[in-house]
Amino acid sequence: MERTFWKEAVVYQIYPRSFMDSDGDGVGDLRGIIMKLDYLKELGIDVVWLSPVYKSPNDDNGYDISDYEDIMDEFGTMADWEELLAGLHQRGIKLMMDLVVNHTSDEHAWFVESVRNPDSEYGDYYVWRDAAPDGSLPNNWESFFSGPVWEYSEERGQYYLHLFSKKQPDLNWENEKVRHAVYDMMKFWLDKGVDGFRMDVINLISKVEGLPSNGNAPIADGSMYYTDGPRIHEFLQEMNREVLSKYDIMTVGEMPGVTIEEAKKYTGEDRGELQMVFQFEHMRLDGGPGGKWDIVPWKLPQFKAVMHKWQIGLAEKGWNSLYLNNHDQPRMVSRFGNDGEYRVQSAKLLATLLHTLKGTPYVYQGEELGMTNVKFKMIDDYKDIESLNMYHDRVTYGGADPGTVMAAIQTRGRDNARTPVQWDDSDYAGFTTGTPWIGVNPNYVEINAKQQQSDPDSVFHYYKKLIALRKENPIMTYGDYELLLPDHETLYMYTRTLEQETWLIVLNFSTEKTALEWPPNLLGKEASLVIGNYSEEGMDEKELRPYESRVYAIK
Ligand code: GLC
Repeated sequence: MERTFWKEAVVYQIYPRSFMDSDGDGVGDLRGIIMKLDYLKELGIDVVWLSPVYKSPNDDNGYDISDYEDIMDEFGTMADWEELLAGLHQRGIKLMMDLVVNHTSDEHAWFVESVRNPDSEYGDYYVWRDAAPDGSLPNNWESFFSGPVWEYSEERGQYYLHLFSKKQPDLNWENEKVRHAVYDMMKFWLDKGVDGFRMDVINLISKVEGLPSNGNAPIADGSMYYTDGPRIHEFLQEMNREVLSKYDIMTVGEMPGVTIEEAKKYTGEDRGELQMVFQFEHMRLDGGPGGKWDIVPWKLPQFKAVMHKWQIGLAEKGWNSLYLNNHDQPRMVSRFGNDGEYRVQSAKLLATLLHTLKGTPYVYQGEELGMTNVKFKMIDDYKDIESLNMYHDRVTYGGADPGTVMAAIQTRGRDNARTPVQWDDSDYAGFTTGTPWIGVNPNYVEINAKQQQSDPDSVFHYYKKLIALRKENPIMTYGDYELLLPDHETLYMYTRTLEQETWLIVLNFSTEKTALEWPPNLLGKEASLVIGNYSEEGMDEKELRPYESRVYAIK
């Protein structure tokens, strides 16, 4: 397997709105990130993935872009952005920008022109359709943010497609001019020195011709008609030929619903597409038949099975990205760990998993502090369009029980990850001197960066240690992976092997002690502890404490 920088790197995701506010308007900004560059350096990460900072009316917090080549007013100026890039590069950190090109904002000049002038160059930049002959919508697909994917434009007298909010019209990738406009924009940023792109819902850009309805229901899931669509590989190969291959950069595609077979094509080294994908299978284990808001308990054997499938699936061809949360998901310690008594231990255990599976780890801001979900009491405390639309769809118009829907949002809503980063125990966690755009998690008094930076046993220091270990031990990046005890309900156990060395990773996913059965083929060999999340005092070779994790090197 080819050794490359991006396989060895650790990526840190910044959601700028909630990272650090430098000017007291309650919204995080670029100068706020600049203030924290030494923090990132101390943590030791190699790459920053910056969620969108482009001009945007913020219907979906920057994922609705009205000008791709300018900076959002609330976040600062192009000069601030340039200073940020220089500051990162001075510290040896690369910058990966978010590329959101399935859709733009409805306030983007292309869309404004497309509405106004169907006969202009922009007339065909978006997906416009007439109503069906019986006057109904062009098809029955449901949007990710509730309701139909179609919105009527009085002015143009047609419907436009929006897989997300009605302020996020989908670009028409069938139109070659659209594709080339996107490529030009990518070159604009690459020529400014960015080191890569995280590509937003990139496997949704190619839609099946004719945009067929799914069955006869008035509203239904249409994802089979746009996930890994018919021309997706052609489009990405074209993008690679025209842009990506001309630069030495990192790429990762966000791909809801992607299968292993497709992922091999997206990331295969001989294919000329992308380097990594974000798959979603492990994010769906706690969703029932009703989807993400229909919450069911997840089970460790299923979790292991999904991760295993991807570890094996991309072992020879392609490469995994490893993540347990981001700005769209609940906090990992609340979801897959224990955010009560064992918060610190389970945050470290999950970190161990993230850094010792094979793939490139992505750390989401605040994860390195073991930040947790938040429980806001009122729907108005939530800001995320996905949660708000769903709530109104179900409760205000649908008559559902508000308590049940609130509980789903508290567990699963995206705002869990979007509360401000907890820097210290001063007002608003040191995030802002004004009023934050979204509430701060009240646990900032105990959980904050300042406290953890000075505590050698903190989650922060544990992340630092894992990241440093990766630099010294190629086995963490390149070692072959093998799963042990796949059916065990609380123990997650696997090995990584590179040449003569084997690492054994043991993780106790439970609040109970769990017996540790040493794999027979490793019995009698010399084992030394590389890293563990409990003190060595009282360590029992045959038993793991609640949420205990250990990594052994065996020779
Ligand atoms: C991606 C983003 C998410 C956004 C959506 C639409 O899933 O991560 O935050 O809402 O795409 O752009």
